[in-house]
Amino acid sequence: MEVRIDPWDYRLIQEYDKLFTVFGIQPIDNIPRRELLKHHFFTRRIIFGHRDFDKWLEALVKGEKVIVLTGFMPSGTPHLGTAMVFEELKYFQSIGAQVKIVIADAEAYAVRREDRDLTIKFGLEFVKHALAWGLNPEKTEFYFQTAMREAYYRLIQMFSRKITMAEMEAIYGDLSPAKVVSALTQVADILHPQLEEFGGFKHVLVPVGVDQDPHLRLARDVADRFEGELGLTRPSSTYHKLLRGLDGNKMSKSRPDFAIFLDESEETIRKKIAMALTGGRATAEEQRRLGGEPWKCMVFELYTYFLLDDKELNEIREDCLKGRILCGECKKIAFEKLVEKIREHKKRYMEINENLAIDRIVRKPSF
Ligand code: TRP
Ligand code: SF4
Repeated sequence: MEVRIDPWDYRLIQEYDKLFTVFGIQPIDNIPRRELLKHHFFTRRIIFGHRDFDKWLEALVKGEKVIVLTGFMPSGTPHLGTAMVFEELKYFQSIGAQVKIVIADAEAYAVRREDRDLTIKFGLEFVKHALAWGLNPEKTEFYFQTAMREAYYRLIQMFSRKITMAEMEAIYGDLSPAKVVSALTQVADILHPQLEEFGGFKHVLVPVGVDQDPHLRLARDVADRFEGELGLTRPSSTYHKLLRGLDGNKMSKSRPDFAIFLDESEETIRKKIAMALTGGRATAEEQRRLGGEPWKCMVFELYTYFLLDDKELNEIREDCLKGRILCGECKKIAFEKLVEKIREHKKRYMEINENLAIDRIVRKPSF
């Protein structure tokens, strides 16, 4: 059977190891310059894979022109899954990179069939949440896909000339016209920063959830074919594991009961944590005797991705494994840490006024 990743599917990717052998994603472990990768997303293998990330890092270290570019679908309030990318961007800024964020309003329109006014509203919300999460406003530029009009029209036309339907189907599986256009638009997002018109050559890094890898494979193929004509080179990318929802399936705005949103109220956080899937045993007696199974536990996943430093994480893991802590008590700790994190985020969000956000949107939505 053929194995494919579908970037428009809601299901969860389970077998991360297959991605190395089947798709040629490189494991993050043997990357040089580890001293630059101190963030726990790297040390905990949450960012587990990459393509040519070593080349991008080398360019950064040498002082060559580099940029980090990624994108978001503006179809709802961001949740913790989205915040993973904010967190990564913040880290890349801390090691010296400029960041460009695309708001995928054209994709939301064509593939998700979202309402235009809502999309624009959520796009602005995204900008505010990204800045509230701590992105450096001086090093962050936002743009809407629909703002790119002539530049993208021309690029997409050029790309379409050198790609066949069979190649696209091999990457994506079943396609619709909306998906074809959206895929080529995303390739334009990924490659355009290298063009003269957009400031000239730079090394592009695209940090994303691994579900987006098909777009990177297409972008790399396109770059190869336009090396001569447009002077394009292959983009680099990093891949993180997708944060699961509180029931163990994918965290997604289409299943709000199992996601934690960045504007979530204390009351709903409490309810959601209370019903989260854990690795606890059937009875307290059993759990004290056998210990819990943190690798099955969504509370432990929250700890690992967002809530605890190395020392605290180790302690909870040991306490859980040895049956020294029960899930009720453990959930209380997670609840308090999470509420604190969201409370701080909301506070910064309130401080960021509309004007600051709008000023950072270099290219505004059109049509
Ligand atoms: N397709 C991405 C998503 O669904 C959004 C996106 C658009 C993107 N253009 C991009 C991501 C360029 C990375 C790079 O979330
Ligand atoms: Fe998860 Fe904590 Fe229960 Fe262990 S004790 S299974 S980490 S909730």
